[in-house]
Amino acid sequence: MAIDSIPAERLPLESRRTLARLLPRIQSRYAEALGAADWNSFEARVEEHFPRLFRLLIALYGERFDFYYHLEELLALCAQSWLERPDDLKQLDVVREADAAWFQSEKMLGGVLYVDLFAGDLKALRERIPYLRELGLTYLHLMPLFKAPEGDSDGGYAVSDYRTVHPPLGTMDDLRALATALRAEGISLVLDFVFNHTSDEHRWAQAALAGDPDFDESYFLFPDRTLPDAYDRTLREIFPDKHPGSFTFRPEVGKWVWSTFNRFQWDLNYRSPATFRAMAGEMLYLGNAGAEVLRLDALAFVWKQMGTTCESLPEAHLLVQAFNAVLRIAAPALIFKSEAIVHPDEVAQYISPEECQTSYNPLLMALLWNSLATREVRLLRASMSSRFAVAPGCAWVNYIRSHDDIGWTFDDGDAGRLGINGFDHRRFLNAFYTGRFEGSFARGLPFQENPRTGDARISGTLASLAGLEAALQGGSEVEIELAIGRIVLLHSIILSIGGVPLIYLGDEIGQRNDYGFGSDPAKQGDSRWVHRPAANWAALALRSDASTIEGRIFGRLQQLIQIRKQTPAFAGNGMQVLALANDHVFGYVRTPPAQEAGPRVVVLTNFSERPQQLPANELRLYGLSYRFHDLVSGQTLQPAGELTLAPYQVLWLQAEGRD
Ligand code: GLC
Ligand code: GLC
Repeated sequence: MAIDSIPAERLPLESRRTLARLLPRIQSRYAEALGAADWNSFEARVEEHFPRLFRLLIALYGERFDFYYHLEELLALCAQSWLERPDDLKQLDVVREADAAWFQSEKMLGGVLYVDLFAGDLKALRERIPYLRELGLTYLHLMPLFKAPEGDSDGGYAVSDYRTVHPPLGTMDDLRALATALRAEGISLVLDFVFNHTSDEHRWAQAALAGDPDFDESYFLFPDRTLPDAYDRTLREIFPDKHPGSFTFRPEVGKWVWSTFNRFQWDLNYRSPATFRAMAGEMLYLGNAGAEVLRLDALAFVWKQMGTTCESLPEAHLLVQAFNAVLRIAAPALIFKSEAIVHPDEVAQYISPEECQTSYNPLLMALLWNSLATREVRLLRASMSSRFAVAPGCAWVNYIRSHDDIGWTFDDGDAGRLGINGFDHRRFLNAFYTGRFEGSFARGLPFQENPRTGDARISGTLASLAGLEAALQGGSEVEIELAIGRIVLLHSIILSIGGVPLIYLGDEIGQRNDYGFGSDPAKQGDSRWVHRPAANWAALALRSDASTIEGRIFGRLQQLIQIRKQTPAFAGNGMQVLALANDHVFGYVRTPPAQEAGPRVVVLTNFSERPQQLPANELRLYGLSYRFHDLVSGQTLQPAGELTLAPYQVLWLQAEGRD
């Protein structure tokens, strides 16, 4: 690799010299069109961020003979994109640069949905903004909505054109209009940046297939199995039952193509600086269309190296940092969200202000489900104590369910220290969440069961995994209430533990599994569709009726959301896990960020369907009082001797007085 091509001590000098040569050339191309003010702000950001960008690109591409050509064209691309950036987004840039911690506010609440399944198309989604407001959303992730192959497109994660909306959903103008309408209501648009792969119908893939020499380096094409076999020895299979191995044979050219996910998703080759520049252009286009957060899809896979797993290699981080630096120059309002659903040590490596400011928290997600199954919180407690802290200026995106399967990504060492065998325990969790384990309340489906490794992941909606589906089948009111208790409990944690809570739309009314995917040829091979039901607007209409299941869930969530938004202690990341003696109770203290005034909040949650006791002394120890105001029930608690938590009860306690 080219990492040492310039000695580190020479980098500042080389970077200054390079910029002194390049900037006048960019200026002569763009300054006039931009006008003085826009050129000056652009130039200031280039001066600030070029040294970092230069260092990263030298490390990745410094040995390429055409490096300086690509560098100049990358800066030109930034200037061109800035020229095209709409004025309202330039204003947003100013606002966000002055308040970089905007996404850490207690007011933040995320939601995620599929445009077609939720509303039909982009225009119809605009009509639904009042509902999104009612729920309290300030962040809306729209699942992939760009042009994709007909039939199976991995839910849109096979992009054929990053600048064309998938025709049934509308047009780019509809998307821009939606982004503007959302922003006017205080909702930030979040889009995927699917940059590890394109679909095989993308024009670059078609050009590579046609043997166009300008595109032979855009993907990884191999004339025979020699290299694929050598790589396969150390690669993980991501979709083993649909697509064994990581390569696909294309008979029309007699070649093998790298395709980590599905056969029609071709991995891009970032060893080529042209690939980086082309994708930087697509990224900036999304930013100028009004996205405020980009979800970096499958970012762990973007760099390949023979003899490694080709996941989370050092160059993958350099690449993401280089994309980050491009944004700081050309669209500074934007931030990244990391989608690394891997070992917790690896997840953490992507999180920093220079890389991804936010990240999914798959460890919390998996361990919430673990605690629900086992009714005890030891692994959750131990893992969150040591692994929750993130760099200043960054935040977790905490979620219970996503559109993907649940993988049991906890650390085997953490588990081992508690006497839990990781392999056996994952088997138990898979048995539990598929409902095969006797007495299980869950009704999930296996995803990508791999008979060779014994590995599997879990599909299922939150409500079905939490017991509502089984309870409604069984018709027991007691079980229904317990299931609702679990749904509320899990939400109470993502709403209070620190970071951006992300709700999968439909969960707020307890939507159950949709088994209809089994008869759709484009979906039947992929059990994740069971937890991607279409919005049920008739059921949603019941949300204010407290006598319905929908109303019982929605009402309780709505209340927690409102409390969150009024409680400064829920901003930022300050969180201390409590070492409580009772292993069924998960507790932590939230402290408001230094700049926000307000009392601390002690959060206590009972993960079992039986009442649980805590000694009042523990409350005094961690809550620094004997008397508390519970934000959830509105009651004052002054436990004598012991505090009792009802099944699945959630307490958000503020100390009251000193007695
Ligand atoms: C991400 C998406 C997942 C998709 C994969 C390939 O992991 O979340 O749905 O299958 O990337 O794009
Ligand atoms: C694997 C990948 C993750 C992807 C998922 C899709 O877990 O690590 O990125 O979302 O598969 O199922």
